[in-house]
Amino acid sequence: MRTLISGGTVVTATDSVRADVLVEDGKVAVVGVNLAAEPERTIDATGKLVLPGGVDVHTHYDLPFGGSFCSDDFSTGTRAAAFGGTTTSIDFAVQDYGGTLREGLDTWFEKATKAQTDYGLHVIIREVNDDVLKEMDTLISEGVTSFKLFMAYPGVFMSDDASIFRAMRKAADAGGLILVHAENGGPINVLVDQYVAEGKTDPVNHGLTRPAIMEGEAVSRAFKLAELAGCPTYIVHLSSREALQAVREARDRGLPAYAETCPQYLYLSQDDMARPGFEGAKFVCSPPLRPADHHEDLWAGLKGDDLQVVSTDHAPFNYKGQKDLGVGNFAKIPNGLPSVEDRFTLMYQGVVNGHISVNRFVELVATAPARMMGLYPRKGTVATGFDADIVVFDPNHERTISAETHHMNVDYSCYEGWKVKGLPEVVMQRGEILVQDGEWHGREGAGQFIPRSPFGYGG
Ligand code: URP
Ligand code: ZN
Ligand code: ZN
Repeated sequence: MRTLISGGTVVTATDSVRADVLVEDGKVAVVGVNLAAEPERTIDATGKLVLPGGVDVHTHYDLPFGGSFCSDDFSTGTRAAAFGGTTTSIDFAVQDYGGTLREGLDTWFEKATKAQTDYGLHVIIREVNDDVLKEMDTLISEGVTSFKLFMAYPGVFMSDDASIFRAMRKAADAGGLILVHAENGGPINVLVDQYVAEGKTDPVNHGLTRPAIMEGEAVSRAFKLAELAGCPTYIVHLSSREALQAVREARDRGLPAYAETCPQYLYLSQDDMARPGFEGAKFVCSPPLRPADHHEDLWAGLKGDDLQVVSTDHAPFNYKGQKDLGVGNFAKIPNGLPSVEDRFTLMYQGVVNGHISVNRFVELVATAPARMMGLYPRKGTVATGFDADIVVFDPNHERTISAETHHMNVDYSCYEGWKVKGLPEVVMQRGEILVQDGEWHGREGAGQFIPRSPFGYGG
């Protein structure tokens, strides 16, 4: 099928050009002015932006966590993502204690048979041993090139420094990228136990027991371990100015140190966790939301490229029936927020309010995540030879975010009632229309696993 997307402004990380895009056999064939093509289908993009499909490198579909399962699976999650302009997700397979990485991966491949958009997989390593290190080599050669280790959640996910260091040395050798959840879980758990014992059990205490100084410390430590190992390292879901400062220091020294933040850390705050009654539970995630005066620092980090990527850390739990496991004890609230559908448009508000250029917006939500995670030259921009994952975006459309109208399988929105500009009007994957006129045209199982290049290759 030859499709011509005509008359729009094609925006990449570097340029904004009034041009047509010809899509053929699922790929971008040509980007050019007044293309004399003979298409079978034309999409009129006059007055619209023609953008690469979003790449969200941090989602949790169907993750068992905190006594519950994330309420989006690969079907509902990838569908909602696409409604929001995101056409590729990278999710996290989990190694069980006593299990192999391969077993964790197989479980996630099974879950992902339902995917409606393309996806990749990272692996969460819980236990590092000689066999696991060998497996990392094999997985990298199969396109699973990044591994997450936790400095938080003792007894659930946390690894000690020696384990993290061993995994980093292997990744450095084999072309892998290490992702780190950087919060110092030991002291944090001491505070959690103390607060619960003192009867300070409301949701806001989740934030107060996970201070930013313990995130800053963990980021610093992660980069010191990485420096010793010679390993490229990427901090996930960075939330605070203390953590950002530690990234900046490492980058200023020329280390391969990278980090993502998420919309919740740019727009929401500790005040949301302090909402009356139990409502603050809707905003419980780790690292926690910080006081609002961190927002400007994080926007500056995005502008100055100390933060390279915006992902979601999409980890949805229903308010009724899941978050309420923590009534009377904040430590039992499942950690995580829904936002896979909102990221693209929320970040576009950064363009609307003058924080970032439209090109930087594209870079943050599509190009940089694709390059960082080895999806280049398939995903992440609109250029000849790339997959035709394209969003025709109406920048002037005004709408109100609401759980009543979103497509995520979760009973609340953190952004309920927020008025935003911009709508992913047409969303295409490999040349097939997924969303048009608010209707879904995709299909369960149509998403493909995308093997990724080793770190630093392919772009
Ligand atoms: O609160 C969060 N972030 N939940 C998801 C798990 C993780 O640490 O990424
Ligand atoms: Zn994490
Ligand atoms: Zn996560």
